[in-house]
Amino acid sequence: MSKPSVFVARAIFPEVIERLSAHFDIESNQADTVWTKAQLIEKLQGKAGAFTTSSERIDEEVLAACPGLKIVANMAVGYNNFDVAAMTARGVLGTNAPDVLTETTADFGFALLMATARRVTESEHYLRAGQWTKWNYEMFSGSDVHGATLGILGMGRIGQGIAKRGAHGFGMNVIYHNRSRLSADLEADCKARYVSKDELLAQADHLVLVLPYSASSHHAIGAAELARMKPTANLINIARGGIVDDAALAAALRDRRIAAAGLDVFEGEPSVHPDLLKVPNVVLTPHIASATVPTRLAMGNLAADNLIGYLTQGKPLTPLNPEVLSQ
Ligand code: GLV
Repeated sequence: MSKPSVFVARAIFPEVIERLSAHFDIESNQADTVWTKAQLIEKLQGKAGAFTTSSERIDEEVLAACPGLKIVANMAVGYNNFDVAAMTARGVLGTNAPDVLTETTADFGFALLMATARRVTESEHYLRAGQWTKWNYEMFSGSDVHGATLGILGMGRIGQGIAKRGAHGFGMNVIYHNRSRLSADLEADCKARYVSKDELLAQADHLVLVLPYSASSHHAIGAAELARMKPTANLINIARGGIVDDAALAAALRDRRIAAAGLDVFEGEPSVHPDLLKVPNVVLTPHIASATVPTRLAMGNLAADNLIGYLTQGKPLTPLNPEVLSQ
């Protein structure tokens, strides 16, 4: 019997390709070409499964043009590149890659917070540029992390990981806002206090964004929200581009309406708003919060397990639209 065909849209660990090849006819993109939508549609012809990253958009146009598609497995916890309602309507299963990246991503949220608060990249650029000719008592003074108020917007697994690092490791006062309040047990584990979004903006010394992107979180942090923050506050975005209005943030950083920002995600990435590149008080990284080899391998393996589980036994591990299973 012929094996189902699967398209792997981006380059991935060879061992993941090998695992997939045991079950499927694989067309892979180890050259890591970035496809246009038309090319992606062409590649998906005759494929039962697709292995994607957050760079590939799976929407109604793609689904309508690829009627053989049964599952799209995203190697990311975020899945705003999927139109899940359109997938469900067409009986296509979507899966994401949660849990395996939680601690690594929370580590990175903290790395970005600390680099931002203590002006690590800004001072390194100064040193590399040969500008360090004498020490001065106030050079690159930043803000304290220990004992400060840590605000978290979006208190899922990654948000909770950041809260625990802040509360237990750095003695921070942790406040959070989320669509729904955590249980008393989880709040106690995280030593976190639920507050309104307005109070979060007004109180946080370091505000970390970890909420999913959707139409309702688009520009959740714009000019009005930035104006409510302390002028000494730092903003960290490890969630998704589009949650922050990058133009408004660049203006707030330029005018020192907030102290600094640390950004791993951007509107329209891999493009970065040119005004963000002009301000010194921002730490910029290219969407790497989950980038350690063991974690990226675990994410790749989970996406592969979803394809194998669903296409060989009808049993995906982390379905986003499980209603497709009973259609
Ligand atoms: C990365 O941004 C992810 O969603 O996994």
